[in-house]
Amino acid sequence: MKNLLAPSILSADFLRLGEELRMLEQAGADIVHCDVMDGHFVPNLTFGPPLIRQLKSAASLPLDVHLMISNPEAVLDQYLQAGADWLSFQYEAAVHHQRALNYIRKKGAKAGIVLNPGTSVDLIRDLLPDCDYVLLMSVNPGFGGQEYIPQVDSKIRRLAQMRKESGLQNLLIEVDGGLGLQNLERLWEMGVNIFVAGSAVFGTANPADTINSMLKIIKK
Ligand code: DX5
Ligand code: ZN
Repeated sequence: MKNLLAPSILSADFLRLGEELRMLEQAGADIVHCDVMDGHFVPNLTFGPPLIRQLKSAASLPLDVHLMISNPEAVLDQYLQAGADWLSFQYEAAVHHQRALNYIRKKGAKAGIVLNPGTSVDLIRDLLPDCDYVLLMSVNPGFGGQEYIPQVDSKIRRLAQMRKESGLQNLLIEVDGGLGLQNLERLWEMGVNIFVAGSAVFGTANPADTINSMLKIIKK
């Protein structure tokens, strides 16, 4: 299974986004994690389809768009048209999960469902065949720079076990929040495939070096 590093531009310098994108590309990042927040589902507001469209035209890396918004089903199309290559929405914010996942796939993007730290992975057992990836939040969504919540370890293990039992070898597990050089190895051992890191990349003196060190751990 191919593991991917997904730096989150939430912690990038928004005044220099073009340069930050080029840095990510040159450093060898795999996909660019884009956190969409609506000030309603989460207590913070970031950006929407217009910025995704601009990022798409400036980036050669695929965009991994994480919707932390209420009623995501109403706006999936806007993000797909803007250029989301990977598109995930929060389980807690949607109603017709299976329909939404299939819609994303039908439009040619990879479909993911996101669980908050307090939402059990058992709830999505029957949705797994419709997912390309499951994103487990390891902080309460809304802000970068928070601490990894230790109870998420058992959710990752449980999801990895469910993946094995259901024979869904292609299902990818993504983890988001509080990741850094100190815990990547442990997450890798548990079966995580996509590693989101915001402050641990952009908050360091040399983000490209940090990316390099992270890649060494997750690509073993
Ligand atoms: C949190 C976002 C994350 C965030 C992670 O609500 O979904 O993607 O950027 O930031 P760090 O890596 O700093 O915890
Ligand atoms: Zn995110």
